[in-house]
Amino acid sequence: MTRLTTCVDAEAAAIRAATEMARHLELAVAERGIGHVALSGGTTPARTYELLARRTQQWTGVELWFADERCVGPEDEQSNYRLVAETLLAQAEIPLERVHRMEGELGPEEGARSYAATLRAHAATDRERDRGNGVPVLDLILLGIGPDGHVASLFPGATTLDADESAVCLGVVDSPKPPPERISLSLPVLRAARRCLLLATGASKADAVNAMLAEPSRHVPASLLRRDRLTVILDDDAAGDRLRR
Ligand code: 6PG
Repeated sequence: MTRLTTCVDAEAAAIRAATEMARHLELAVAERGIGHVALSGGTTPARTYELLARRTQQWTGVELWFADERCVGPEDEQSNYRLVAETLLAQAEIPLERVHRMEGELGPEEGARSYAATLRAHAATDRERDRGNGVPVLDLILLGIGPDGHVASLFPGATTLDADESAVCLGVVDSPKPPPERISLSLPVLRAARRCLLLATGASKADAVNAMLAEPSRHVPASLLRRDRLTVILDDDAAGDRLRR
């Protein structure tokens, strides 16, 4: 069952998301000694990352990954790594060897291949857990959602949605959201995660949120997430009339 929370505004949603993330990571580290978390870029999560930096005292055992990255260098203003560096890493004492940047500068295919190898080397696969298809299991993935229902860099109707069940990381060359070249975790990895936390604020996301909670469809990648492992945090504007508090 999807857990859904609607907050009065974007700040309250960011506070709730940071609190949820800290709780999931603390539980993961307490239970398994390690917590693998992947972060998204865009604009929505910046405040959450700033708050998360102050909420989590114990970063020991946390391995930081990325859900997607644009094929630019880490200093580029479009870089998701730069967003995380300026909000979370600037305040949280996470050892750099535990921060696994997607190397967008390698380009989509080589960047995806390299990241998949690194992720496989660090995170246990779901084959042991639930006879899955052998993809790495992350403890928590923070996702945003586009107005078209995309998550990470998995876009409506894209061939990346049909990737093999064992695919870990994919190169994207035709993103409708600039820049066109990206690296993204695959849908199997998003679905194998113990928990996905999707954060959406603003009226421009209301239709996508509704579509996400309707019948699963390749035209709405967010609707293909594992609903029983999904937490959705919205502000009133993104909740729209149907889900508003
Ligand atoms: C990216 C993001 C992307 C983002 C959504 C929402 O690299 O662009 O990972 O998936 O989460 O597009 O973006 P906003 O938060 O800016 O609305």
